[in-house]
Amino acid sequence: MLAREVADFLIPGPGKRFLDGTVGGGGHSEALLLASSPDGQVIGLDRDEEAVTASRDRLQCFESRFVARQGSFADAPEILAEIGWHTVDGVILDLGISSHQIDSPERGFSFRAEARLDMRMDRRQELDAARIVNGYTEAELEKIFRVFGEEPQARRIARAIVVEREIRPIETTEALSELVVRVKPGRRREHHPATQVFQALRIAVNRELAELERFLEKGYATLRPRGRMAIISFHSLEDRLVKTAFRKWSRPCICPPRAIICRCGWSQKVKSLTKKPVSPSALEIEINPRARSAKLRVVERI
Ligand SMILES: C[S@@+](CC[C@H](N)C(=O)[O-])C[C@H]1O[C@@H](n2cnc3c(N)ncnc32)[C@H](O)[C@@H]1O
Repeated sequence: MLAREVADFLIPGPGKRFLDGTVGGGGHSEALLLASSPDGQVIGLDRDEEAVTASRDRLQCFESRFVARQGSFADAPEILAEIGWHTVDGVILDLGISSHQIDSPERGFSFRAEARLDMRMDRRQELDAARIVNGYTEAELEKIFRVFGEEPQARRIARAIVVEREIRPIETTEALSELVVRVKPGRRREHHPATQVFQALRIAVNRELAELERFLEKGYATLRPRGRMAIISFHSLEDRLVKTAFRKWSRPCICPPRAIICRCGWSQKVKSLTKKPVSPSALEIEINPRARSAKLRVVERI
């Protein structure tokens, strides 16, 4: 997604090193490797073991120029230190879920296929969607649906889940999606009625916003001077976190507005290269409708 725009901003070239923090199928990594021939290097991270394997397979022709690791981009500083790189010339984070994950029915991300309510990107973790649906309180479920899914019927759906699970646990995508269809009022809809509930659960299972916040605490430190960071987000909650962090990183001082003397010890880390977020072209949205809510923001280390 936004592949050309990302490559234009990250200005790949020979001898450069890049971090693809959400390698997925390896699309951005491949573009960066091709454009930084003959010796530019990329490390690709993903929490999903299948993505790590898929990107390794796809990019094996680049040999030692590409390294793939299972891990969260929030741990990028430590992972970069482990491989002896410490800093890079460019970072790309393409947030959210991959087409491969949505299109793998057994992963439980989609309401379109019957499967266990799983939704874990990293299958080593214990918490999955079934545990949340059957174990969290009504108030916790309502909050997840309202905040992460912006679901207007959050309360009604949470209530129905709690009533239903008293009779039998809700363990499959189909059982949950049928419940949401039954409970949500209205017939004429643009999206499937369970879209927001499934999105909310996925974000909760994978602690997606918490991981992004953890990265944004000190993510600028992964960049060399004049190194660039591009982040593509898919919903307003993610974009707000990125916008706020990039604004903070761009400020020369973070003292409270009324402070007379600066005591924060902060200094400007980056300058913004996108005053407004970049959106995919109409052509890209036509080819891939999932791209329609993507927003790209880019900063450069000073
Ligand atoms: C939109 S896809 C990336 C697609 C990729 N750019 C490509 O070209 O195929 C997002 C990927 O990020 C991964 N992911 C999500 N959160 C992550 C995190 N905190 N750390 C590492 N990977 C993460 C997901 O498992 C998924 O594979």
